[in-house]
Amino acid sequence: MEKLGVVIAITLMVGMAMRIAHCSNEDQAKEVDEWFQKIPMNAKEKVTKLHFFFHERFAGNNLTAVRVGRATVTDTLATQFGLVSIMDDPLTEGSEPTSKEIGRAQGLYSFSGQDEVGILMVMNFVFTSGEFNGSSLTILGRVSGAPHGEMPIIGGSGVFRLARGVALADMREFDIIKTGHAIVEYNLEVIHY
Ligand SMILES: *[C@@H]1O[C@H](CO)[C@@H](O)[C@H](O)[C@H]1NC(C)=O
Ligand SMILES: *[C@@H]1O[C@H](CO)[C@@H](O)[C@H](O)[C@H]1NC(C)=O
Repeated sequence: MEKLGVVIAITLMVGMAMRIAHCSNEDQAKEVDEWFQKIPMNAKEKVTKLHFFFHERFAGNNLTAVRVGRATVTDTLATQFGLVSIMDDPLTEGSEPTSKEIGRAQGLYSFSGQDEVGILMVMNFVFTSGEFNGSSLTILGRVSGAPHGEMPIIGGSGVFRLARGVALADMREFDIIKTGHAIVEYNLEVIHY
């Protein structure tokens, strides 16, 4: 009986979710379609520059990034090859952790280099305030152990539909011993409509 109840509950939830998705999908599809039709005629691309700070607590309390996977060799290699972490890191206007939050960096990174540190970054910058609230940018790229890195912006949503660009990362703080915090300054140049 208990199992049946669970099955019914799940079926109801799926049915509800599908109905909700169905309604909003139609409106959304129409809006996206109209947006695409406008592109060739009167939409011009523009360049937007963004500047913010990324805060990660990778050790200690209140983690914003969690290690979810590692290989048997990971801890034997200085390059941490095989390590995978998932993050939900605040993005703030200023460099202080208490500075106003403007979004989150959600995604994962994996240590993908065997002989030298090579980190695959797969993340979305999700904006939660200001003129870009509700829009997101998708980053897919590689950084090394160096303090500076460049990653491609390969797309986006909302005002950043069909976006492309470059994200420059500048490691401002990386403290394994005392705080377990990393602070990265980001400068983005984005081409979008
Ligand atoms: C962790 O979060 C709690 C509750 O929000 C807070 O009181 C504490 O100061 C935080 N600790 C750190 C190290 O940020
Ligand atoms: C961002 O947008 C959401 C959804 O539209 C809204 O609920 C929220 O209040 C907005 N936040 C800010 C800071 O404007």
